[in-house]
Amino acid sequence: MTLSTTRRASAPQILDRCRELVRPALVESVGRLHPWHAETAAFSLGWRGTGGEPLPGSQGKGVRQALAVLGAEAAGGSGEDAVLGAVAVELIHTFSLIHDDIMDGDETRRRRPTLWKAYGTGPAVLAGDALFALAVSTLAEAPGPGGPAAVRQLAGALGDLVHGQAQDLLFESRPWCGPGAVLPHEYRAMATHKTGSLLGCAAALGAVLAGAPASTAEALDLAGRHVGVAFQAVDDLLGIWGDPQVTGKPVHSDLRRLKKTYPVLAALSADHPAAGRLDALLTSAGPLDDAAARRAAELIAEAGGREATIAEAHEHLAAARACLDRAPLAEGAREDLLTLIPYLVDRTG
Ligand code: IPE
Ligand code: MG
Ligand code: MG
Repeated sequence: MTLSTTRRASAPQILDRCRELVRPALVESVGRLHPWHAETAAFSLGWRGTGGEPLPGSQGKGVRQALAVLGAEAAGGSGEDAVLGAVAVELIHTFSLIHDDIMDGDETRRRRPTLWKAYGTGPAVLAGDALFALAVSTLAEAPGPGGPAAVRQLAGALGDLVHGQAQDLLFESRPWCGPGAVLPHEYRAMATHKTGSLLGCAAALGAVLAGAPASTAEALDLAGRHVGVAFQAVDDLLGIWGDPQVTGKPVHSDLRRLKKTYPVLAALSADHPAAGRLDALLTSAGPLDDAAARRAAELIAEAGGREATIAEAHEHLAAARACLDRAPLAEGAREDLLTLIPYLVDRTG
């Protein structure tokens, strides 16, 4: 028996390692933008404030860039192979959040004003467009035989992401209960599209750029899509019971906008008296005021919506793990992926 002395890296260490690897190329890419867009990009990426001042500790987790790096390593390549793919997925993620905050009317993210709040809606729409274009042109420069397949992979994910955002917005005007109500499988499809597509794409892009066979990229894509549903379910939960100081996002915003989030759908379908009271509360008024949103949160918890959401997240986590277990991946990277994905689900912010 050999005793291994190598310790598994923790999720924050994995994220830091990947961020350091990708950062120079991300900075270089953003530096190619029109100065106005470079400023709004630096703001959105949490690098700088509105006055151009550095902002330590405001950047996102960098999950997507890490998945791209780990995808390349899992396919037997090096993290370097994935760098332009990692830049592209971070830029797309940033673009999608900028536009999402406009669509959702949210005024804070990462404890700071959202871009549309700080710069205005027109500039924010344009800033998102600029990042979208930059992402595609950055990925198109990826060297090696995997480049064209990588661009196709990203294009497919973008189509799915926009599809998911459309489902999310259209669900707002669907009824809570009865004919036309949003069913759990429709929620899963929406979350797979809006959140899972880019997470899956990130990991698959890394593999494609490292020259992996299509079956490996597909397994990583599917794992990422399951992670996306789990991540989204937890995001929904934090939007109701999270601490805004930790999440950096407003609380009860989804409830006030009548978003069909998983905790509410699960609570409404529960065989519990609170489900009926919740339905009456949600359908009686128009947009909920603060007191009604607080009452709704209590009823959702009473009907078991919180536990059901945690269970849903863990089911998709298990499905993601199963995809990774089945695929022929390099062991160290598989371990890093298996360390990272529960960290994304068992989170408070
Ligand atoms: C955002 O979904 C999905 C995309 C940006 C594609 P949400 O609207 O649920 O996410 P948050 O809560 O604003 O981050
Ligand atoms: Mg949103
Ligand atoms: Mg949204």
